Amino acid sequence: MKFETLKGFASVTETGVQGLALYENFTGKDLSLLPEELAKMVSQVVEREHFKAKRGKTLEMPIAEGSTVAVVLYGLGEKEKACMDDYRKAAFEIVRRGAARGVKFAYLGIPGAECEARSRAIGEGASLAGYRFTKYLEPDEDDHFAAPETVLVAEGNERGLNTGAVVAAAQRYARDIANEPGNVINPETFEKTARALAEEKGFACTVLQAPELKEKGMNALLSVGQGSATQPRLIHLVYTPKEAAKCTVALVGKGITFDSGGLSIKPADSMVTMKGDKTGACVVLGVIKAASELELPVKIHVVVGAAENMPGGGAFRPDDVLRAYNGKTIEVNNTDAEGRLTLADALAYACEQKPCAVIDIATLTGACAVALGEDTAGLFTNNDELADKLLEAGNLEGERFWKMPMDDERLREKLKSPIADLVNSAGRYGGAITAAMFLEKFVDEKIPWVHLDIAATDFAKDAYSYYTKGATGFGARTLTSLLLGCAKDGETEE
Ligand code: BES
Ligand code: MN
Ligand code: ZN
Repeated sequence: MKFETLKGFASVTETGVQGLALYENFTGKDLSLLPEELAKMVSQVVEREHFKAKRGKTLEMPIAEGSTVAVVLYGLGEKEKACMDDYRKAAFEIVRRGAARGVKFAYLGIPGAECEARSRAIGEGASLAGYRFTKYLEPDEDDHFAAPETVLVAEGNERGLNTGAVVAAAQRYARDIANEPGNVINPETFEKTARALAEEKGFACTVLQAPELKEKGMNALLSVGQGSATQPRLIHLVYTPKEAAKCTVALVGKGITFDSGGLSIKPADSMVTMKGDKTGACVVLGVIKAASELELPVKIHVVVGAAENMPGGGAFRPDDVLRAYNGKTIEVNNTDAEGRLTLADALAYACEQKPCAVIDIATLTGACAVALGEDTAGLFTNNDELADKLLEAGNLEGERFWKMPMDDERLREKLKSPIADLVNSAGRYGGAITAAMFLEKFVDEKIPWVHLDIAATDFAKDAYSYYTKGATGFGARTLTSLLLGCAKDGETEE
């Protein structure tokens, strides 16, 4: 999909859909972006159908008029209340309807497209509209779905559109890997995927295999992966910008390729979708990819502890006591609280790289989904300034994050073990918070840190908004956006 900018709809000659996003109280003049005869016809349909451009409402009219196969109107709602996500959704809805018809062109008339930020949102929405995960489905001859080759944006901002396409590509890449089942992506094939990306983009790539994990004392990660036929590993990629880096950011992703719960095995119904337990890892790969494509002046470390949590003969067990990479001992009371164990070693390793900030993203706790629902991810931090930057990026990108408390000392006490420094599971109440408090013990307290819990937001049970059913790649846009911000306001490092 490529983007072109247009002065109005003047040069429409090829077969396509014409899309127009409108605020409530739009007038005939607003329809005049369309070619004259079309505008007339559309205004008649608008009247007949009582289309009022209420927020999120669409009106689609198939039309065999010259080169246009359909006109799609999208309601932005009240102008004063419209936010970036409304423009993103408008672009998605219009282009998606073009894709469903398999047209080569989509023409977008979205107000304010001349602004770079808004064009970025439009570029994201349009690019996401071309996404499907159908590789395991038999081809359907009635299915004409194809992403339009060209999206023409009236008065669009070229830079914004192209940046948006890269940001969305990070998310699509993450979704493609996260959607793969556990029999395809295991720690070994995840490593291959990361290596292929590193090769393509010129990232440095270091992988610590099981014997090295043992030698280095990364027993928390090692233990989680022990019950699987595929050994765990630690994957470390580095993107070094061509120009001087303004800052160094470490991104740590939870990479459980399948979470059966281990010996504390999950009930059958809870195990379904647990192929998605590697989403954090997929997201950080997408983000480092985008950073290099945007040539951001930010050095990036990506660290993933890849493991499969299985109840095999070598599996770790409840009651085991493990010594993590940073020397802390952990009493295992639930092998299903495995993510925090792999992250413990990955975070300690990431902090050794001396980043200006470390951000981890993980499908960590069902408790987070219980607290915030399926559309909002939890944000936990030791540094409010970094948290605010992330919240702002999330706002801009239409990914919802909510800051959770880390100052409940009575809750923190629940992590105490009679025989080790910590237990790995601290009970049901405040489960997302105690998980974050656990992780905090493995982060260098001098380094600003944010933990993002994307349990449930990682996966759409049904298609909604610009998500198709399945992996959402939640967080990819926000993290890329944050790095775009760092590129702007950071000071150059020595
Ligand atoms: N991967 C799960 C969390 C999860 C649940 C992600 C639902 C996505 C959707 C995690 O490893 C887990 O099993 N957490 C346990 C922790 C508990 C044993 C302390 C949970 O949430 O029940
Ligand atoms: Mn688990
Ligand atoms: Zn898990």
